[in-house]
Amino acid sequence: MNGPSASLYNEDLFAGLGRLADASVDLVIADPPYGLGKDYGNDSDCLSGEEYFAFSRRWIDAVLPKLKANASLYVFLTWQHSPEVFCYLKTRMLMVNEIIWDRRVPSMGGSTRKYSSVHDTIGLFAKSREYYFNLDSVRIPYDAATKKARSRSIFVGKKWLEIGYNPKDVWSVTRLHRQDPEREDHPTQKPLEIIERMVLASCPPCGLILDPFMGSGTAAVAAARHARAYAGFELNQDYFAAARSRLAKATGTLEPQETLRAGANLRLF
Ligand SMILES: C[S@@+](CC[C@H](N)C(=O)[O-])C[C@H]1O[C@@H](n2cnc3c(N)ncnc32)[C@H](O)[C@@H]1O
Repeated sequence: MNGPSASLYNEDLFAGLGRLADASVDLVIADPPYGLGKDYGNDSDCLSGEEYFAFSRRWIDAVLPKLKANASLYVFLTWQHSPEVFCYLKTRMLMVNEIIWDRRVPSMGGSTRKYSSVHDTIGLFAKSREYYFNLDSVRIPYDAATKKARSRSIFVGKKWLEIGYNPKDVWSVTRLHRQDPEREDHPTQKPLEIIERMVLASCPPCGLILDPFMGSGTAAVAAARHARAYAGFELNQDYFAAARSRLAKATGTLEPQETLRAGANLRLF
C-alpha cells in the first residue's frame, strides 16, 4: 500500500518535536499519560496535581506552534485532570466539543463510596473557527428499524435518512480486552474505531497528523488506513517496536529484519 509518509520516532516528544516544521500539522491526536500512575515502562505517568498540570501546559505549548491555522486537536483526559487542562486549552484555542468515551465497562462491583468511573473525557479544540470538519465521512447509518419507522411517504427520499446521522458527543465503544485481535501489549491502547473517526472528521485527505504520545501506534495505523501523513513520538522502545510492526502489517510494508534496529527512527512508505 502506498500513501503519504509516516515517521515514527523512538524519542521524547520534547526532544524530537523540532523535526516538524511550524504550521505544518493538520490534526493533533494527543493521548498523554493520564496522571494516574499507569506503568508505561517509564516514569511518565507518575505526575499528579500541579506537576501534571505543568506537564500538560508544557506539551500543549510545544505542540501548538506546529498547527496550521485550520488545524484541530483532540486530547484524551480523565475527569480528575480535564477541568484544569480544558481551561488552559481554552486560553489558547477554541473549544469545539467535550466528548465522553463510554468504555462500555460491564457492571461488576466497582466503587462502593462513589459512582464507578467508566469513561474518558476527550476534548476537541480548534486553532480557529475555520477548522476542518468533514461530517459526511463520519455519519452513522440509520438502522433498519428506524428507517422502517420513517417509511411514510413524507420521509421517502429524504437526504438525512439516506446519509445517516451526526455522531453525538457520547461515544460508546468497547475498550480493548486482552483477547481482542486488535490488542497490543500496551496498558492504555485506544480502539481504532475511535481514532479513525477523529482522523476522518478532522484531518483532510493527505493532511499531516501529529501523535505526541504514540504508544502502540493506533493513530499511525488509522492515518495509514485513510491516506493521511503521520508523525509520532514514543519513549518506550517496546511500544515503539509494536507500533512499527503494526504499521508495517497495516500497510503491507515488510521491512527487512536488519533494519529493525531497536531505537531506530523509521520512515515508512
Ligand atoms: C496513553 S499512552 C498512548 C496510547 C496510544 N494512544 C495507543 O493507542 O496505544 C501514552 C504514551 O505516551 C508515552 N510517553 C509519555 N511521555 C512521553 C514523552 N515525553 N514523549 C514521547 N512519549 C511519551 C508513554 O510511554 C505511553 O506509551
